[in-house]
Amino acid sequence: MLEDTVKKILKARVYEAARETPLSPAHFLSRRLDNQILIKREDLQPVYSFKVRGAYNKMAQLSEAQKAKGVIAASAGNHAQGLALAAKQLGVKAVIVMPRITPEIKVQAVRARGAKVVLRGDAFGEALAHARELIEAHGYTYIPPFDDIDVIAGQGTVGMEILRQQPGRLDAIFVPVGGGGLIAGIAAYVKYLRPEIKVFGVESEDSACLKAALEAGERVVLEQVGVFAEGVAVAQIGEVPFAVMRDLVDGVITVTTDEMCAAVKDTFEDTRAVAETSGALALAGLKKYVQQTGVTGQTLVCINSGANTNFDRLQHIAERTELGEQREAILAVTIPERPGSFKKFCRTIGKRMVTEFNYRYADADSAHIFVGVQVKPGGEDRRAVADKLREAGYPVEDLTDNELAKLHIRHLGGGRPKEHFEEEVYRFEFPERPGALMNFLTHLPADWNISLFHYRNHGAAYGRVLVGMQVPNGDRYHVEEYFEKIGYRYWKETENVAYRLFME
Ligand SMILES: Cc1ncc(COP(=O)(O)O)c(C=O)c1O
Repeated sequence: MLEDTVKKILKARVYEAARETPLSPAHFLSRRLDNQILIKREDLQPVYSFKVRGAYNKMAQLSEAQKAKGVIAASAGNHAQGLALAAKQLGVKAVIVMPRITPEIKVQAVRARGAKVVLRGDAFGEALAHARELIEAHGYTYIPPFDDIDVIAGQGTVGMEILRQQPGRLDAIFVPVGGGGLIAGIAAYVKYLRPEIKVFGVESEDSACLKAALEAGERVVLEQVGVFAEGVAVAQIGEVPFAVMRDLVDGVITVTTDEMCAAVKDTFEDTRAVAETSGALALAGLKKYVQQTGVTGQTLVCINSGANTNFDRLQHIAERTELGEQREAILAVTIPERPGSFKKFCRTIGKRMVTEFNYRYADADSAHIFVGVQVKPGGEDRRAVADKLREAGYPVEDLTDNELAKLHIRHLGGGRPKEHFEEEVYRFEFPERPGALMNFLTHLPADWNISLFHYRNHGAAYGRVLVGMQVPNGDRYHVEEYFEKIGYRYWKETENVAYRLFME
């Protein structure tokens, strides 16, 4: 099987639509990580991601009759743009079904390549179902995003170029994983020719479907998938990719949202490219690998797989970057509510750079301060700041790893109710589509009072909402049954220390 896949990669037709991208040295990172880091610049493809390789190769293999009828895909992401470009080059009609919520910029990008866009349904599943109906009706050929050997072969040309571009020492290659098409192609080619090179998959810890499959020994469907890195938000690893790669990959590294954001910044500093979060995923994994194994002097390659990001998302990414690099500590500190104590607190913090400062009167005796402080990466400095404050007599909570604090509380700045009342607090991830909020509210019983609401647009396909509800006693134990019916991801936050200190 391996040999067949390698032959398909060698014969793959991609260069009529894709280009050979550079393997660029990352000088800053190399110095910082004490290894030679090279970045494969798939963000420089004409559609700003590698996906055009697989789409073009798949389409190039179709019969004349299939080409005459046209091709179809359901996608709001990079596959849609890759397919549209490939179809244009081959002179084939392409239809892309996108959910109605797809940002206009993506719709325009696909139309600009000459593809026909059909907007259908509120979510991806409905778009896919409609694509199937159109296949029935018009005989189009479906072009899958990853689960196909010709798509895998097209993506495998990335591996072929890497080995050609780096004929000397090469210790490991880090590959982002969604459905597994890219890593299957790269692993097949690299392991066939140079089995000593390690190939690692990198997944967002919110959508680690390859890791789950390798652990279980079979493909599993993840119950929940986080969509922060949309390009890799896949619930189940592809069947064909898994069969190709399961015995070839050397392991999977999972990374957090904050680590991906930090890698977006690293990519920018070394290449001036603005990677999308999935595009920077592999670098985040590479950094973690170096940190965990302590390797030095090695040659490590990661793939910048795409740069299709919404501009208005950058603010959120930038905000989380310092945390991802462990350069910012977020602390909740309680100080006495008396004249001069705020000043004394500032003196204790000393000359450190303060990134954020929220002061809120709590009661006649104390006040809570929400403070962001710049620290040295590694955790030691962060602990030192907290210890110093504790030694000075202040109660301190370290909120650096607290999602509620990072997403909502830091933007809420106080606003406590005058008197105490019972409130259930939940955090939700909403799909960003018209009516999503209304859908949420209509599922809640009419006698629940909304006592707190915070929403911030992150420029992504989903929104994040914090809701406080006054729930009548009879419903108290059934709250989550209602949420299950709505189907959005949620987290209970009523006991979260950040909520208790700043909002309760
Ligand atoms: C930018 C980016 N990176 C990585 C991937 C993951 O590729 P695969 O689904 O082949 O694993 C995708 C998939 O669309 C992507 O768009």
